[in-house]
Amino acid sequence: MNLAITKLAELTRQKLAEVSHNQKWMLFAPVFIVCVADIRSRIKEDVNISLNENSPQEELKQIIRDTSIAIEHIALEADNLGLATCWVAWFTQEEIRPILNIPTDKYVVSILTLGYANEIPKASQRKKIEEILHYETW
Ligand SMILES: Cc1cc2nc3c(=O)[nH]c(=O)nc-3n(C[C@H](O)[C@H](O)[C@H](O)COP(=O)(O)O)c2cc1C
Repeated sequence: MNLAITKLAELTRQKLAEVSHNQKWMLFAPVFIVCVADIRSRIKEDVNISLNENSPQEELKQIIRDTSIAIEHIALEADNLGLATCWVAWFTQEEIRPILNIPTDKYVVSILTLGYANEIPKASQRKKIEEILHYETW
């Protein structure tokens, strides 16, 4: 990668961190995977669609679910390869989309930061399995 492209990429990463409530720690990660859901995979008609956090389309929930499954698979494989990821979803569509010229009929589900971890955090407190698992009926 030449220097100009590297600088451009760094500026883009800075903007992505800024719209994510200025989470500066993100910039320690060398790679950002911006994970985008595409409603056109479920709505085939050629209609105008502009999505945001309050959009009523039922398909929006479906594509966020579908994309979240894919994102978690990326996270699991990263872990399998000895890398670390963090979901970042503290941004608005209105702010994040223009940074990458993402059309308004797409929905950014997460920025997955990717890199080698410089710390291994203590496991967070978990609910007991009996509190969240039901057999046969709720
Ligand atoms: C939808 C979503 C959004 C998140 N956004 C952020 C974020 O903006 N910044 C951050 O540091 N972590 C973010 N996280 C990661 C969480 O802080 C946490 O590390 C992760 O959910 C694992 O937590 P656990 O080990 O307590 O289960 C997000 C997680 C999810 C599921």
